[in-house]
Amino acid sequence: MPEQRQWWKEAVVYQIYPKSFNDSNGDGVGDLPGIVARLDVLKMLGVDVLWLTPIYASPEVDNGYDISDYRAIHPQFGTMADFEQLLNEAHSRGMRVIMDLVVNHTSDQHPWFIESRKSRDNPYRDYYIWRDGKNGREPNNWGGHFTQSAWSFDAATGQYYLHIFSPQQPDLNWENPAVRAEVDAIIAWWLAKGIDGFRLDAINLISKAPGLPDNAGAGRYVFAIEHFCKEPRFHTYLHELHQAAFAHHDVLTVGECADLQVADAIAISDPARGELNMAFLFEHTNYYHKVGKDAQRLKEILTRWQTGLHGRGWAGIAFNNHDQPRVVSSFGDDIRFRVETAKLFATLLLTLEGTPFLYQGEEIGMTDATYATIEEYNDVGTVNVYREQVAAGADPQVVFAAVRATSRDRGRSPYQWDATANAGFTTGSPWIGVNPNYREINLAANLADPASVFHYYRQMIALRKRTPALIYGEFIAQAAPAALYVYQRLDQGQCYQIVLNLSEQRVAYPCMGDLLIGNYAVTDQNRLQPYEARVYRLV
Ligand code: GLC
Repeated sequence: MPEQRQWWKEAVVYQIYPKSFNDSNGDGVGDLPGIVARLDVLKMLGVDVLWLTPIYASPEVDNGYDISDYRAIHPQFGTMADFEQLLNEAHSRGMRVIMDLVVNHTSDQHPWFIESRKSRDNPYRDYYIWRDGKNGREPNNWGGHFTQSAWSFDAATGQYYLHIFSPQQPDLNWENPAVRAEVDAIIAWWLAKGIDGFRLDAINLISKAPGLPDNAGAGRYVFAIEHFCKEPRFHTYLHELHQAAFAHHDVLTVGECADLQVADAIAISDPARGELNMAFLFEHTNYYHKVGKDAQRLKEILTRWQTGLHGRGWAGIAFNNHDQPRVVSSFGDDIRFRVETAKLFATLLLTLEGTPFLYQGEEIGMTDATYATIEEYNDVGTVNVYREQVAAGADPQVVFAAVRATSRDRGRSPYQWDATANAGFTTGSPWIGVNPNYREINLAANLADPASVFHYYRQMIALRKRTPALIYGEFIAQAAPAALYVYQRLDQGQCYQIVLNLSEQRVAYPCMGDLLIGNYAVTDQNRLQPYEARVYRLV
């Protein structure tokens, strides 16, 4: 079945983490006017949609993924008027804007939760998930993302509330129709403002298994998504949301879904079912961030998804985001082959089927940041786990080494604009440390060098846009040596061949066709350099 054309399949999305993007007022935190000031360069890059991670009112325990007012802008980012200006300025340049919708949970400072926790008997009690303890312990053994237990005891009413994430992020009770109606109203409010869609945070966690059964496994707290992920009613709720809020708007909707399999992605994106446009594919990033580089595994995962989805469903594809280390550091080689591996991943991202999502900084080859002391870290997961384990008697140095290796702050350091103080991100003191490599790696240097990562991304984006086969074409993996990933994209008699060397070895491979773009000046058509990437047109 040929793919149905849609603007959101043809779009390239750019994720902005506003706190770390550009600070216009010197308070050390990026803001909305700071984004407006940089729209022209994003336009030049060729991206079509900007996704802003949360900018709503929030105590910022989890950098805005803890919302206390869904209809207000956090003052650190500016005002609603600043937001409207950003929207207008983006629209006038032909770029769309999507927001983050965080409705698996709210902040504990949201008025609903403040009311909810006051008594066992009030209209907001049932907005959240409250349970009695069992034998003096939590209601079940669920472990949390950012804490050992997913439950916290609230002495005022003598019950526990559920929080899959931090205790300051209580989970909403989606079984309550009043909660679902609130979410519909929030979406309608933002769409009326003129935004172009949503990225739905942690969206397949909204439905919990009836009776909240224990997770299987030994130990007091078991972290497993077994009973709160992909519960069947999640599809029912999404369909309801679609009918109530999205069906009559031509918007982009993308779900962040844990443990997503090909069949789930097909169900979520099936237009006939009416849920979302797409969900993010995570299987590839999850494996290499956890188990390290393995070219065979990467190829197997991507090929399975590409062939499984073609003609049946649609996905969002990313190699970087605000929760992941940067791929150039984790899978690439940010010391010896930084520029080459950054360009290799640009080639891969922009030649796969699925809407590509870039994360700020990847287009200039930014690398992971690391910090010397726990005080310099901000990620709630990093800091909570460190505190819990040190309080339980573990060696602080050992714990620090472990949390540092997994911290989400690796990809959250400020955008590197130029070689001036603080990378030109702020004239004040940045909220999180700037990567010291900014003197070498920054946008200004990229713009000045025609062979830079930025210009390569710009050319790759332009190539994708003028080449329907790279967007809609069938994906056909080719037999190739283990280190190479070779595939074709085929559409209406046009055929493109992508040849990627995922290793640091030189590898022989007979290449054919017209070379359209590559990350090396090719001297030997039949031998690939370390991490070389080439795109050929065959017919
Ligand atoms: C998502 C966000 C992450 C956040 C979590 C809780 O995974 O991407 O940053 O911490 O949801 O909202």
